[in-house]
Amino acid sequence: MTEVDKSTEHIDFKFYHNFNGHQIQNKQVEVTLYRILQEGINNIFKYSKATKVDIQLKSYEDIYMLTIEDNGIGFDAKKVVKENSGLGFKGIKNRLDAINGFLEIESQEGRGTTLLIEIKKDF
Ligand SMILES: Nc1ncnc2c1ncn2[C@@H]1O[C@H](COP(=O)(O)OP(=O)(O)O)[C@@H](O)[C@H]1O
Ligand SMILES: [Mg+2]
Repeated sequence: MTEVDKSTEHIDFKFYHNFNGHQIQNKQVEVTLYRILQEGINNIFKYSKATKVDIQLKSYEDIYMLTIEDNGIGFDAKKVVKENSGLGFKGIKNRLDAINGFLEIESQEGRGTTLLIEIKKDF
């Protein structure tokens, strides 16, 4: 068989949450989480060449925690942050700053990418 074009390969998405009927009370927090998910997933389709994606959205007593993990090609996150080059991440950062949220980008070339987001419920 000939080699499969990576860009058309299947991506296996998994989504875990512990909401069990819980609803986010604050609209700004809700929209922020939604926009981050949108940007993160778009980036995975555009850049990652991942075959597996794990998304976790957890509600704890005082915080929401969102992680978006892919097993794709990764990138030099330090460089993107330092040079302030990514428009998408800039938007994420601005939204999070407005509600005192926290973002960590963990990525290494060849070893996938994990975004970790924490937002205090009473920011
Ligand atoms: N999941 C990912 N896998 C590989 N590279 C990524 C991923 N997410 C982002 N990147 C890299 O980080 C850069 C910055 O992303 P972003 O801020 O969303 O900017 P944009 O999508 O507008 O190019 C992208 O151009 C891409 O090189
Ligand atoms: Mg983007």
